[in-house]
Amino acid sequence: VALVGGGPGDPELITVQGKRLLAHADVVVADRLAPRELLEDLPAHVEVVDAAKIPYGRAATQEFINQTLIDRAKEGKFVVRLKGGDPYVFGRGFEELLACAEAGIPVTVVPGVTSAFGVPALAGVPVTHRGVAHEVVVVSGHVAPDDPRSLVDWSAIARLKGTVVLMMAVERAGAFAAALMEGRPGSTPVAVIQEGSTASQRVFRSTLDSLAADMEKWEVRPPAIIVVGPVAGIASANS
Ligand SMILES: C[S@@+](CC[C@H](N)C(=O)[O-])C[C@H]1O[C@@H](n2cnc3c(N)ncnc32)[C@H](O)[C@@H]1O
Repeated sequence: VALVGGGPGDPELITVQGKRLLAHADVVVADRLAPRELLEDLPAHVEVVDAAKIPYGRAATQEFINQTLIDRAKEGKFVVRLKGGDPYVFGRGFEELLACAEAGIPVTVVPGVTSAFGVPALAGVPVTHRGVAHEVVVVSGHVAPDDPRSLVDWSAIARLKGTVVLMMAVERAGAFAAALMEGRPGSTPVAVIQEGSTASQRVFRSTLDSLAADMEKWEVRPPAIIVVGPVAGIASANS
């Protein structure tokens, strides 16, 4: 099994190694956010298991994916698990590696361009910039700031001066903005990038105190990256 990071969506943003392994696959198990255009180039004999089309919800889906990787590999097939971005950035890639390892199946990991950094770059937002931001933190918005399951120290994140990249945060953008405003001014610049690197990419600029209302107005839908911090306020010719 090869766990391949496919990058944020543009089929040209997969690595050379990822593309080479994909060309040798007997089976491709593709994520919803993987670069879908790459699937169109696969030879007809390649079995494509499309995770976007697997029913029964998230947990059952992960179990099904793990089992599919194991079953096909045990049949002697070379399986490429094509994931969006980087396999280990909120991608559950390590869970898949552990499941394969437990079943005695060797796994090759091919890192990918994570949307956390690649998507802002394509929208003209550098996640660090000399003299502006000397730190960048990537935070999952999968659970709300006040959720007891949260593993994020929001009071520490709110005190940062640099860049905070929020992923999976569209639904609760207002709650995250409020948590960040406990430590940062409401005027802190924010950039929101929806479907980065694809033909449907949309880029918006806001501030922490207007973020929730602006995102509602713009009807931002996942997948989107929210970049908070002074880097989001730097204008350049291509942003
Ligand atoms: C489950 S995480 C997977 C992240 C992936 N492993 C990576 O490294 O990019 C999904 C989140 O990634 C972000 N994302 C992925 N692809 C994106 C894209 N093309 N444009 C904007 N955000 C994207 C969104 O925040 C989305 O909710």
